[in-house]
Amino acid sequence: MEYPDNQPGNPFVQYVSSDVLLSLQRTRTASGSEPSFLIVTQVMELLFKLVCTEAVSGRDLLEEDDLSGALRALRRLHRACLALCGSWEALTSMSPTEYAEFRDALGDGSGFQSYIYRHMEFLLGHKVPAMAEVHRGQEAVHRELLRTLGEMSLYDAVLRLLWRRGLPVPDSSVERDWRLPYPERDEVVDAWHTVYAQQDKHYDVYLLAEVLVDIAFELGRWRSTHLLTVERLLGSKTGTAGTSGAAWLRRAAEHRFFPELWAVRARI
Ligand code: HEM
Repeated sequence: MEYPDNQPGNPFVQYVSSDVLLSLQRTRTASGSEPSFLIVTQVMELLFKLVCTEAVSGRDLLEEDDLSGALRALRRLHRACLALCGSWEALTSMSPTEYAEFRDALGDGSGFQSYIYRHMEFLLGHKVPAMAEVHRGQEAVHRELLRTLGEMSLYDAVLRLLWRRGLPVPDSSVERDWRLPYPERDEVVDAWHTVYAQQDKHYDVYLLAEVLVDIAFELGRWRSTHLLTVERLLGSKTGTAGTSGAAWLRRAAEHRFFPELWAVRARI
């Protein structure tokens, strides 16, 4: 099917750029399963971008002390994460033989090389500098990833708000080298404990804590569903990017965004 471009009389197409969007599904094989794989991957890349957009909005609004605005952005971010998880539905029932019909055509291509996913992880606070180095060969992509790595994350902005509110967040969480991996701290667990123990007094911050856990929960679910899908399609085979595949993804799936919000649960 052809989708003609240049539709000056069609305001919907002009706004959505659907002529461009619908021309981007360039499958490489005749496999009946490849279109679902390609389209779902494209949908997820767009949703990663939406998560990045909302994370930047939420972070910047928190820095302006606009907590209600930030909560609205994070609520949208959470809905984008639900859509990300729902998108797996079109892929999770693929069989290994169907996947094998087009896997070789991907070459060494792997989601591991998705730079928008890496921006998303950095913006939410999972800073692994080595992951930016994967893109060293592509100058503009590498430069932008280093820029995001050097910015404060959404979670850093959350902790700065808690500090301004007089909660016992250590000074070292408020000003530090943002490029470095996030150092989990017991004092931050204490601060969250105060928020949970005195919910009425800190009600807006408590709402912030719970929407962050909603987000971390869905992103954990995205990673777990990815892992299960990979186990179903590849078993113990290595990945196209050269990792051990499922074993590597299992370790990646153990990471939790906003770690002290998970640690505090043991104290409640
Ligand atoms: C359904 C078939 C899929 C298989 C068999 C698969 C397989 C894998 C494997 C084995 C890895 C580890 C790296 C490697 O060695 O390649 C990986 C990483 C990754 N994949 Fe997939 N994948 C699939 C679908 C997807 C989709 C639809 C997306 C959406 C964009 C995606 C995004 C990612 C990302 C972002 C990583 C890096 C994860 C991290 O750094 O923690 N994958 N994938």
